[in-house]
Amino acid sequence: MKSKKIVIMGATSGIGLAVAERLAAKGYRIGAAGRNEEALRRLAAKYPGMVVWHQIDVTRTECVTGLRKLIDKLGGMDVYFHVSGVYYPNPALDHTLDAATVRTNVWGFTQMVDAAFCYFRDEHRGRGRIAAVTSVAGTKGIGPMASYSASKRFQNTYLTALDQLARSQGLKIRVTDIRPGWVSTPLLEAGQKYPMLMPLDYAARKVTRAVRRGGRVAYVDWRWRLLVGLWRLVPDPIWVRINPAGFVPTEEPR
Ligand SMILES: NC(=O)c1ccc[n+]([C@@H]2O[C@H](COP(=O)([O-])OP(=O)(O)OC[C@H]3O[C@@H](n4cnc5c(N)ncnc54)[C@H](OP(=O)(O)O)[C@@H]3O)[C@@H](O)[C@H]2O)c1
Repeated sequence: MKSKKIVIMGATSGIGLAVAERLAAKGYRIGAAGRNEEALRRLAAKYPGMVVWHQIDVTRTECVTGLRKLIDKLGGMDVYFHVSGVYYPNPALDHTLDAATVRTNVWGFTQMVDAAFCYFRDEHRGRGRIAAVTSVAGTKGIGPMASYSASKRFQNTYLTALDQLARSQGLKIRVTDIRPGWVSTPLLEAGQKYPMLMPLDYAARKVTRAVRRGGRVAYVDWRWRLLVGLWRLVPDPIWVRINPAGFVPTEEPR
């Protein structure tokens, strides 16, 4: 399905920005959002006539009316693409970091995908598509990133539930869950080594393809899909004895 109007939540940096640029170049009309107003202005200036924007913080209750304003600016929405997210490695279990993770990746995510679903159900003839960047981290609980991996599992489960809800209600709202491994973006700590790290441009190309194709679940990339397949085979009593240092940086950043 080649949709013309796509809202991208988290279009100011990293994967969301790179995908926004790719889609704008392919002729999609973009409704860009995030908190960084300067980045939103820059994106709109780079693609005149293709990008409208609205500043939205997904952790605030006003984000729902903010999405509505953005849809109006865009003249409708065919695809809602949720990319916004935070990652704080937290082996010390600092509760302020966990609170920030839950606020953005759980509560912010829920507010926004619910609002998108309701828009498609009530104002778009029961049709539309929700795509979201979750993560391979949702496959299993990962010790040094407990709240992050659990928040991504929440997102995976939520998207499956929305897919079932839409079908059971006879709605044509399709749901795409995009699960990347490590991607080189400002989300990651500078000075750390990340295994199987993908360049942003490479990952953004794969994510863009997944958004356009609209399958149910897409892993980025095939090596991560393979690794996740292996992780799944490991029973939890064995999983909890594995030292995660092989796939999560555990050194102090330089
Ligand atoms: N990089 C990786 O290795 C990797 C791997 C798997 C999955 N992911 C997922 O990919 C997504 C994008 O991450 P990235 O790597 O591209 O990181 P990034 O460059 O730090 O981008 C994060 C995006 O999320 C937005 N965001 C954060 N808090 C927000 C809030 N309260 N309200 C609205 N937007 C908010 C940011 O916009 P503002 O700051 O302007 O608000 C920014 O556009 C995240 O969901 C992340 O979990 C990343």
